[in-house]
Amino acid sequence: MESEIGKVLLTAEEIQAKIKELGATISQDYQGKNLLVVGILKGAVIFMSDLVREIKVPLALDFMAVSSYGTSTESSGVVRIMKDLERSVEETHILIVEDIIDTGLTLKYLVENLIARGPLSVKVCTLLDKPSRRKVEVAPDYNGFSIPDEFVVGYGLDFSERFRHLPYIGVLKPEAYSK
Ligand code: IMP
Ligand code: MG
Repeated sequence: MESEIGKVLLTAEEIQAKIKELGATISQDYQGKNLLVVGILKGAVIFMSDLVREIKVPLALDFMAVSSYGTSTESSGVVRIMKDLERSVEETHILIVEDIIDTGLTLKYLVENLIARGPLSVKVCTLLDKPSRRKVEVAPDYNGFSIPDEFVVGYGLDFSERFRHLPYIGVLKPEAYSK
């Protein structure tokens, strides 16, 4: 374990087992549907790449990057699209893949933005949910784990761009923030 990680919240094995479950459910729900999986850069990349390999129906991939103004551990709700989808989305069912829903501000903006483009549906799959932190009403259609109000890193999630590559999810030691 990295020296700056205080405790492991979810092991690599727990994450992979959950992804198998999510993939099976999503595969059932999207049978015969034109599915576009939209990963939100950069945090969702690791989760998305494991998740799509457990989805057994045809799908296409695309990515969006958004930046929400705020500090490194707190988002503000003002969202800017830094990278957009490559194609229009009429006739497609969109599944947004997120790393974590915290205040919900980023996701609420994204869902509304995508619905306005006229797809057949927009649903959300998140690996982690921190429901106690919600500022706006938004709920995932598929959720890996609900977690307490702690800042977590690993498996795509970063603190100042570090720790994304860890195969597990952990909580930082307090001294890691002060560097
Ligand atoms: P929201 O708009 O507050 O829901 O923030 C969502 C984004 O904030 C996520 O996509 C993450 O990039 C970041 N975030 C929120 N909580 C955490 C955390 O505990 N660790 C790392 N990043 C987080
Ligand atoms: Mg981040």
